[in-house]
Amino acid sequence: MSEIYRASTTAPVNIAVIKYWGKRDAKLNLPTNSSLSVTLSQNDLRTHTTASCSASYPAEDSLLLNGKPQDVSGARTQACFRELRALRKEVEAKDSNAPKLADLPLKIVSENNFPTAAGLASSAAGFAALVRAIANLYELPADPTELSRIARQGSGSACRSLFGGYVGWEQGSATDGSDSKAFEVAPASHWPNMRAVILVVSAAKKDVSSTSGMQTTVATSSLFASRASETVPRRMKEMQDAIKNKDFETFGKVTMMDSNSFHATCLDTYPPIFYLNDVSRAAIKMVEQINTAAGKIIAAYTFDAGPNAVIYYLEENEKQVAGVFKTLLADKDGWSGERGAAIEGNYEAAEKANTEA
Ligand code: ADP
Ligand code: DP6
Ligand code: CO
Repeated sequence: MSEIYRASTTAPVNIAVIKYWGKRDAKLNLPTNSSLSVTLSQNDLRTHTTASCSASYPAEDSLLLNGKPQDVSGARTQACFRELRALRKEVEAKDSNAPKLADLPLKIVSENNFPTAAGLASSAAGFAALVRAIANLYELPADPTELSRIARQGSGSACRSLFGGYVGWEQGSATDGSDSKAFEVAPASHWPNMRAVILVVSAAKKDVSSTSGMQTTVATSSLFASRASETVPRRMKEMQDAIKNKDFETFGKVTMMDSNSFHATCLDTYPPIFYLNDVSRAAIKMVEQINTAAGKIIAAYTFDAGPNAVIYYLEENEKQVAGVFKTLLADKDGWSGERGAAIEGNYEAAEKANTEA
């Protein structure tokens, strides 16, 4: 019997408040603009991944996601495997006692504890966990910056899931992507009263994947160029200042405006891409009402490439923000049931309503 080498890890989703949407190099996943995300451990949406390798395994590398075999022949997954194997080879070249793991077939087993491909950043948590699990298996130095550069090649947003808290992704300018990687803006502890509530409007797989959606946007939207070259660079600065100063009003306003801008470029794509639905728009109106009642911005919505809302707020406003949504969802004639919405942790309700619809 050959030995089985194994390592496990978890990685959280990250939800962008300044969105990545557009690639200048699709092969290396190099973006047309920088982006910024927030990861809050309280929400606990994460991927758990185990990587193992053994001479006793079938020759082909394999990936089991939520119990289903996945195709690993795609260029993105292959790029991650290739880069990690090259780093392992360096370890083996330096230390003749190190077992020869780089040449062994890999078996990856991964579970997401939240809906996959539904606009809740599964590709981010998924590729961050995949890269770190293999790095642990290969006993590579766990430098998150270096791992973020590799994870980026699996899925762009994954580079931001190797850090916690407030994380930027610098678009970079090098053609080989060496300067396109994540950096920490501030740890979560910098703004400890920040909270998010996640409204799972639908757990269904999106019709248009992020990868293909952004390609069509870049090719056809006339709004896209000014978003990438003017709007986002200005907002990246505003957002970093807002986070440094713990200025929720600016943080919230820029978050909502960037989500609107991103979804506007989707609508401006030809053929148009509709990620938001009626329940998403009702959530936007509800946040507007909450802010109007408070006389200031105390809640901020954002939507990735899907209908599910993430609403940021400060703990002191829990009742006025999360409380309002939780009450609405508890009401059987309200948003739960036929309109298909649930709070995180209970997304089966949304999935059920969706399949019954
Ligand atoms: P999302 O909005 O969930 O990020 P994407 O369209 O960006 O949706 O990506 C979804 C794809 O990411 C899945 O179809 C799958 O290929 C990949 N993915 C999701 N979770 C994992 C995981 N845990 N491990 C590896 N790949 C994953
Ligand atoms: C709307 O990182 O999923 O969530 O690089 O093609 O895998 P690929 O795309 P992906 O795109 C994420 C888009 C977004 C915004 C964001 O997370 O910044
Ligand atoms: Co994604």
